[in-house]
Amino acid sequence: MKGSGEATVIVGAQWGDEGKGKIIDALVPKFDLVVRYQGGNNAGHTVVVGTEKFKMHLLPSGVVRKKRNLIGAGVVVDPRVLKQEIDSLAQKGVRIDEKILGIDFRAHVIFPWHNALDAARDAKKGIGTTGRGIGPAYEDRAARSGTRFEEFVDAKVLEKRVKEGWEAKAKAVKMLEGPAIPAAEETIKEYAALSHFLAPFACDASLEINNALEKGRRVLFEGAQGTFLDNDFGTYPYVTSSHPIAGGACTGAGVGPKSITSVEGVAKAYTTRVGSGPFPTELSDGIGSAIREKGAEYGTTTGRPRRVGWLDIPMLRYADYLNGFTGIHLTKLDVLGGLDVLKICTQYEINGKRTNYFPVKADEITGAKPVYVQLQGFPGLPPVEWRKIAKEGEKKGFAALPNEAKVYVEKVGQLVGVPILSVSVGPERSEIIWAKK
Ligand code: GDP
Ligand code: IMO
Ligand code: MG
Repeated sequence: MKGSGEATVIVGAQWGDEGKGKIIDALVPKFDLVVRYQGGNNAGHTVVVGTEKFKMHLLPSGVVRKKRNLIGAGVVVDPRVLKQEIDSLAQKGVRIDEKILGIDFRAHVIFPWHNALDAARDAKKGIGTTGRGIGPAYEDRAARSGTRFEEFVDAKVLEKRVKEGWEAKAKAVKMLEGPAIPAAEETIKEYAALSHFLAPFACDASLEINNALEKGRRVLFEGAQGTFLDNDFGTYPYVTSSHPIAGGACTGAGVGPKSITSVEGVAKAYTTRVGSGPFPTELSDGIGSAIREKGAEYGTTTGRPRRVGWLDIPMLRYADYLNGFTGIHLTKLDVLGGLDVLKICTQYEINGKRTNYFPVKADEITGAKPVYVQLQGFPGLPPVEWRKIAKEGEKKGFAALPNEAKVYVEKVGQLVGVPILSVSVGPERSEIIWAKK
């Protein structure tokens, strides 16, 4: 790569919803460009500023701070949702124009039949997808029959593409007993209006990112979902259809691996998962429900209750191999306050043998019994106290934390073998403590 730009990838280290939105918002002031590289509106990234809550599904989280934001080639775009999101941000005083947002010509477009196919397939497979049409849109991309954003913004090509594809899709939906899809003419009309609205945003995002890096600018890549939802390396088949891991930033945004200068993982101080699939440290008892309620663990996109469990170190070590973390942002530590004992899974026992590694085979993941270390809990504190601690943290770093909380954070860093870059102690922008340099 020519030039001296910096590129940081922010990746979910678990099963998504780690608090990526909050961390990205905290980091954005140091960057010039924010880029989504994969996924679609299955994502739900929350940014809390004072009493205002922003929930981003497709727009990169940098829009809240009015930076330049790009939706990369690896994203699947539902134009209906994107317009709604742009309109709803405008109501909150954030105006999205072509200076703020660009969408790569190569990104693929989600149509109503993708939603219908997603619903129909999931009713049979039980992956517990978000129902946003993500899998079927990526299937079309892989089958070389998808519609790219460059075609979507050309009204004539769009009409031709819908007419060509509609009948086969309607048949497929019917065969799978999925919900009825709108008539081709209706979709053409709806999408033509959306095409007109979104056309000014179309761009070559890859070229723009590479030009920015050549000029020495700083680029933040915003991962959606998480490492264990990766289509290759996650808990297949209970995964999403894209590549959230750091390598996905290169293929999804169109930059070379040498351009990436750091990779920062985001991990909750415990583990959650929404949807089906194995979850070795899952808590099905009162502790699990207490954490769910205290941490408001309900999906940002679908509102489904999230499954909750203890922190899983073999998972985080594997995530480190896959992503190459420069460091980890540990979020939602405040939520663990008030528990007498905190457990951390350090190993698994699989078929009577202990292992430090996250297994590959589905039956081994399902059969993995977590081996825990126990740590003393720390007090449950009201948000106002955590805010005071975060303020003190500006001078003291993690030493501002209650002692047992500090011990917990240090233990996590030591077990994963990666520096902890920040600890988050509340949803609000200011509720974060940075490691002392
Ligand atoms: P993302 O998908 O990774 O961006 O995460 P989500 O936004 O879906 O879910 C994280 C949730 O936790 C959001 O409601 C955030 O506002 C909230 N959150 C983030 N960090 C913290 C924290 O440190 N403490 C608490 N209590 N909530 C947090
Ligand atoms: P963010 O970016 C948590 C999960 C779904 C399901 C599986 C496949 O907010 O972290 P899909 O609709 O992608 O085909 O569903 O992936 N999933 C997420 N879980 N956070 C997300 O995004 C998710 N996006 C998808 O629940 O289990
Ligand atoms: Mg989320």
